[in-house]
Amino acid sequence: MAEPRISSIDGKLAEEFAVPSHVEEVKEKMAAFASFHAEAGRKVVLITSGGTKVPLESRTVRFLDNFSSGRRGASSAEYFIDSGYAVIFLHRHRSLYPYTRMFLTINMLDALEFQGGGAPGNTGEVVVNQQVLPNIAKVLKRYEEVKESRLLLPIEFNTLSEYLHLLKAAAQALSTIGSKAMFYLAAAVSDFYIPASEMPEHKIQSSNGPLQLSMKMVPKILSPLVKDWAPQAFVISFKLETDASILLDKARRALDTYRHQAVVANVLDSRRGYVVVVTPETQAELILTEEDVKNEVEIEERIVSNLTLAHDNFITQQVA
Ligand code: PMT
Repeated sequence: MAEPRISSIDGKLAEEFAVPSHVEEVKEKMAAFASFHAEAGRKVVLITSGGTKVPLESRTVRFLDNFSSGRRGASSAEYFIDSGYAVIFLHRHRSLYPYTRMFLTINMLDALEFQGGGAPGNTGEVVVNQQVLPNIAKVLKRYEEVKESRLLLPIEFNTLSEYLHLLKAAAQALSTIGSKAMFYLAAAVSDFYIPASEMPEHKIQSSNGPLQLSMKMVPKILSPLVKDWAPQAFVISFKLETDASILLDKARRALDTYRHQAVVANVLDSRRGYVVVVTPETQAELILTEEDVKNEVEIEERIVSNLTLAHDNFITQQVA
């Protein structure tokens, strides 16, 4: 089927996906963040992270979701900051978050204790248990530095509609800094949705029998992003498959269709240790060895290192 025209995607977004009330305010914040950092000589990356929620009722009781934990986006944010970027982190509410992601599996109360032990009557100062959180001081220090230098701007989304409108706003906000902007689209975005006009208002009743859903195709936002909203930016999409045999072909097809700069291709089960970065001219396999895993190396460090280099080359070519 032919790709919808750009203007029709804009129209569809406005008509069929509820516009979040704070979108203009967030857009201004992102534009101010981008120009502040670009003037300071920094590049800015917009990372999308986590899965989108697709409601089945407008007073939502039920929704479709997906597997994405947000780890790829959250860890990449840290490596981009370490590489000198300022990061807009457009993430699903309560998905993994830079720095705190390392402590997510820990029960907060197990990590705290009373100074001087838990003897009856000791309600003194509460301190961190260093056995439960051995690295907390190091991570806290880095987190404070990042906060102090305002290198991380977190923006939350929940639903598919919020994601689409906020991504459009981000693209328009970052268009002012041209090729210094990178888009790193790691979120797992639903391909299907129910338009607002066709959504039942109230909870779907099981007394009406088995549920049959008819969902529409979500417009591919990559198309207007690359052609229209941020045409000078360096754009990376991700391609996820469960069948490894079709992965690279799909990644190449995405590059042919959208004409952006790179696709990071990954398979669901091996995504933590193996990805392929595909560009129109190259194909780089990034693999973690057993030794890497033992040393707690993360694949995102390699992905970010590959892409920041490619971004620098891209900027140089634009200037030349
Ligand atoms: O979060 P983790 O658990 O760490 O997992 C990371 C990940 C597997 C989610 C990540 O590495 C990944 O592959 N993300 C993209 C998954 C995906 O949704 O692929 P897709 O084939 O549906 O979409 C391909 C690209 O098109 C994506 O970059 C997406 O941002 C973009 N897209 C998708 C839908 C849509 N309507 N418009 C889009 O532009």
